[in-house]
Amino acid sequence: MIKIGIIGTGYVGLVTGLCLSDFGWQIICHDKNEDIILRLNNGNPTIYEPGLEDLLFRNLYYKRIGFTTDINEVIKKSDVIFIAVGTPSNVDGGADLSNVYEVARQIGHSMDEYKIVVDKSTVPVGTGQTVKKIIRGELSNRGLCIDFDVVSNPEFLRQGSAIQDFTHADRVVIGAESQHAIDIMKEVYRVLYINETPFIIANIETAELIKYASNAFLATKISFINELSELCEKTGANIQQVAKGMGMDGRIGSKFLHTGPGYGGSCFPKDTKALVNIGEIYECELGIVKATINANEKQKMRMVNKIKGEMGPLDGKIFAVLGLSFKNNTDDMRESPSLTIIKELSLHGAQFRVYDPKAMNSALESFNKFDIEIIKFCEDEYDASEGVDAIILITEWNQFRSLNLDKIKSNMKGDYFFDFRNIYDNEPMIKKGFKYFSVGR
Ligand code: UDX
Repeated sequence: MIKIGIIGTGYVGLVTGLCLSDFGWQIICHDKNEDIILRLNNGNPTIYEPGLEDLLFRNLYYKRIGFTTDINEVIKKSDVIFIAVGTPSNVDGGADLSNVYEVARQIGHSMDEYKIVVDKSTVPVGTGQTVKKIIRGELSNRGLCIDFDVVSNPEFLRQGSAIQDFTHADRVVIGAESQHAIDIMKEVYRVLYINETPFIIANIETAELIKYASNAFLATKISFINELSELCEKTGANIQQVAKGMGMDGRIGSKFLHTGPGYGGSCFPKDTKALVNIGEIYECELGIVKATINANEKQKMRMVNKIKGEMGPLDGKIFAVLGLSFKNNTDDMRESPSLTIIKELSLHGAQFRVYDPKAMNSALESFNKFDIEIIKFCEDEYDASEGVDAIILITEWNQFRSLNLDKIKSNMKGDYFFDFRNIYDNEPMIKKGFKYFSVGR
């Protein structure tokens, strides 16, 4: 019976550990943060992800998963060790791999038999080889020569649908250098294998690049449609119909062609910058990825300028912001367009009543860092609309899709409605008395 260890219980590590334990494997997870470990052992999720609480309860109940701060226990008890620690951006945009390397050192320091070390974190091409060198170095410091394999097994989990994306993966990517390691990894993912999930078996470098290439391409689709949204506004074309017409071409596909205020999250911004940085290291000009990054920053500022352009001086103007998280079904505000939009508007004296169904706690942390006039963290979208000059809809939470618009309008002092997710339509909104603005239409 393969025993599996997960180092790092963030979005990737916790979802990976819980889904693998639900496949029947015996899992032990590590985190340095004692509070996180305590909460998880008590069945309290430390991140919001639909379905995660049930998965945690069920696998704790059947004792298929446990959480500990003792990394040596995880290393010694596990045959397969997933490294799922954070790889944040460096100031130069490259990935900070210090957490990954520290875990590699600990594995080399504690292992006493054959292990498979799996890079689950998103890491630049070449990291697998460095992890190998670090482990080998630690073993030789101990005067030991123990066999091990390093595998790259990138994740393709979207926040808000991570469990679904794990259990119904489009593909499983395995980058390895020995048939034994490949066989063990296929066994780990047997539940998906027998469900005919395609497996891509490649070398470590290829697997590492598949991850960055996939994320950068998805981000490029979004920046492409976001750039076109400005052209649509100027030519009278409708971006949603342009996207629909494009997406019907099987070679393009309809997904990730929804225009909006720009992409956010912990992945696209970080991974696009890291890929450009990898290109610079290997002297390959990745101009398209650079353009994607620039177009995304431009889209966020274009939303700010749209508001300033329509409303004139903003000093003392009050905005209701509906949605703060970087997308719906997550509490995560990392790189959310709401941060840029609110920060920029506050520089012109704007004030805010904000509401998000899940991200209010992360919002409190995020906004406390900036000198922003948040008048109120509101109870709901109607409370947020009380006495405001304008509504800004930033995140496409389902509950914002059928607002009682008459109630919203009567709560407001002004009549501006900026719909940055194109949830509503021009005509009906104008009929209700709103000065309605959206993206690319
Ligand atoms: C992404 C990748 O999809 C996933 O495969 C990878 O493992 C992690 O990064 P995630 O960042 O969780 O997942 O969210 P995603 O659904 O990809 O959305 C990213 C950003 O793009 C969000 O801000 C979203 O609002 C935006 N987006 C997405 C658009 O603006 N338009 C779209 O059509 C799709």
